[in-house]
Amino acid sequence: MTRNSALRRALLFMPGDSLPKIEKAIGLQVDSIVMDLEDGVAFSRKAEARRVIVTALQTLDFGRSERLVRMNPMGSELAEDDLRSTITGRPDGYVLPKAEFAEQVEAVAEFLAQEERARGWHAGQIKLLPIIETALGVVNVREIAGASARVDALLFGAEDLAGDMGAVRTSAGWEIFYARSAVVTTAKAYRLTAIDMVYFDLHNMEGFADECRTGRELAYDGKMVIHPRQVEIAQHIFAPSLEEISRARRIIEANDDAQTRGLGAFALDGKMVDGPVVRMAQQVMKKA
Ligand code: COA
Ligand code: MG
Repeated sequence: MTRNSALRRALLFMPGDSLPKIEKAIGLQVDSIVMDLEDGVAFSRKAEARRVIVTALQTLDFGRSERLVRMNPMGSELAEDDLRSTITGRPDGYVLPKAEFAEQVEAVAEFLAQEERARGWHAGQIKLLPIIETALGVVNVREIAGASARVDALLFGAEDLAGDMGAVRTSAGWEIFYARSAVVTTAKAYRLTAIDMVYFDLHNMEGFADECRTGRELAYDGKMVIHPRQVEIAQHIFAPSLEEISRARRIIEANDDAQTRGLGAFALDGKMVDGPVVRMAQQVMKKA
């Protein structure tokens, strides 16, 4: 089965105790499926959710969707049981909520290394996707990004961050703007995928699409989503458009030509093209 972990335009979350929702997600052609054990699951249902997730991992064909489990925060009394009871399903990765220190990521990475060794699995295959969603997480985002080679993406959680900071969420979003920028910039510095925040209004599709576009303009690669109807919109907006692809291709061709003529900068359709423009075009082609 080929899974392209770089392609994470939409990460669909669902409560891990709902097998019907996991099954529904599998039919949606979504890039990543995140079976939740944290805030989407009631305390009385954590054990049941672990059982459902393992059963799903062991018995269902997820097709090309990435199979992720969101555990409870490292250091909580639930985290260790979450890992021990779901590892047998061999997920593609774990989403780590409320990540704040490199040591937390290292501890999970060490657990996974031991399990991979003991089970004869390929070393380093199971990825880690920390969510930055507390003030401390934002301040320490760089050490979290660099904590382990398993870290493969950074996710930005706006609601929890606002709660942690005592900020009020607004539609303009200035209260979370620094953090939203810091997470994507750090992700890019460490060559990780950057995943933008959840949009909570399940029925405002215009608002959702606008927030996807803003995230994309900030250089996010994808978005956490919470309902099937958000999947296709996110996957469409976070994929490069045909116009962008064809313009990128023309820039690269024109640049090859200019370079052979000894020109580092040139004009294409009345706009200057030089190194950074060419590198942006290469990024678009890489995604396409
Ligand atoms: N993943 C998979 N399927 C989902 C889904 C999700 N996140 N959200 C809804 N669905 C399914 C429903 O089960 C229903 O399926 P059916 O028609 O086959 O019965 C269909 O999509 C329509 O759902 P709808 O009635 O519009 O939503 P709901 O009222 O059942 O659920 C939520 C609303 C918010 C509870 C639900 O969308 C959800 O669970 N979201 C994710 C919550 C979560 O994981 N939070 C933690 C991470 S932030
Ligand atoms: Mg959260």
